[in-house]
Amino acid sequence: MKKRLGILLVFGILFVGFSANWTYSYYQGLEEAYIPIMETKAPPVIPSEKKVFERSEYALDYLNMPQDENHQRTLESYYDNRAYPGAPPSIPHPVKEKLGMGGNICLQCHQNGGFVQKFNAYAPVTPHPEMINCKQCHVEQQTKNYFAATDFYKKPGPAVGVNSALPGSPPTIPHQLQMRENCLSCHAGPAAVKELWVDHPERVNCRQCHVPQQQEVENVELFVRANTVDQ
Ligand code: HEC
Ligand code: HEC
Ligand code: HEC
Ligand code: HEC
Repeated sequence: MKKRLGILLVFGILFVGFSANWTYSYYQGLEEAYIPIMETKAPPVIPSEKKVFERSEYALDYLNMPQDENHQRTLESYYDNRAYPGAPPSIPHPVKEKLGMGGNICLQCHQNGGFVQKFNAYAPVTPHPEMINCKQCHVEQQTKNYFAATDFYKKPGPAVGVNSALPGSPPTIPHQLQMRENCLSCHAGPAAVKELWVDHPERVNCRQCHVPQQQEVENVELFVRANTVDQ
């Protein structure tokens, strides 16, 4: 009798152990929460608008960055070393390696910007870090004066602050988009021009709301060859 009770007890303990173990591992295996959403790939991006997102990983950093008002650029100083709107600016500072084309030497300051003590200014972020032959287009300033008088007319840039259809609506983009696809490089961060500094860098899809300003195209008259004979 005692032997039977002993065997039953052993089986009883085994059964309790088994069910405790089973319940424990069952609850361990459960998912935290079931989300009935299919995993999708990254949404497709329109190829011509791809560059808009190039610096969007820094958007929240830009949003939380304090503004350094003592070292902000203005639209006037921005156009100081540009021959015309959209022209490559000349290099306003000394360049170490005189013969090189630039590349990584320039990118160490111009890839992400930042304060440069020796020039007492923030380095503007380049909108085109992939064009590594920098000095193909950007030349060092040799002199501030002209050798001879010139009547070169410097076309002023498009007006700023007047491009909204209604008060509070997103202004249209008054400039061309070639070489200006990467909005955050010029419109956010400490080197951004004061008048162009944008308070919503986190809305990364800029061209969702800001559309290029379309100039009205005048109707060109129908071309008529002078020697055609009326029939
Ligand atoms: C040590 C950091 C540093 C290096 C290296 C450097 N730059 Fe700069 N760069 C600056 C700073 C800072 C400014 C802003 C100067 C100012 O506003 O007075 C600037 C301004 C410029 C500008 C004018 C931008 C504008 O919007 O007017 C150009 C163009 C430029 N640099 C090109 C280059 C090229 C090309 C090279 C490589 C040959 C280069 N830089 C190397 C820090 C640097
Ligand atoms: C194919 C010609 C070309 C090459 C190569 C080139 N740039 Fe530029 N860059 C331009 C033009 C044009 C602009 C003016 C864009 C505008 O204002 O619309 C510009 C603007 C800039 C600006 C000013 C951004 C601002 O805040 O307005 C910086 C800084 C700059 N480039 C740095 C560089 C650096 C660094 C390199 C090399 C890694 C480089 N560029 C290579 C043509 C070029
Ligand atoms: C190379 C620097 C640069 C880049 C890149 C750039 N912009 Fe600009 N943006 C400017 C300048 C400079 C102005 C002032 C008008 C002018 O001189 O062209 C301006 C003006 C504007 C204005 C008008 C602001 C107002 O208050 O009227 C809007 C909107 C704008 N840009 C949107 C954009 C968008 C969107 C992108 C990206 C597709 C972009 N910008 C890329 C330099 C730039
Ligand atoms: C959801 C729509 C929306 C998106 C996305 C958006 N903006 Fe705007 N933006 C606006 C509106 C609305 C205004 C006008 C704000 C006002 O007048 O108070 C504006 C104003 C501006 C201005 C004029 C200066 C200012 O701050 O008022 C600039 C420059 C600008 N945006 C650039 C950008 C850039 C660069 C991006 C991408 C990082 C961007 N915007 C994304 C809606 C948008």
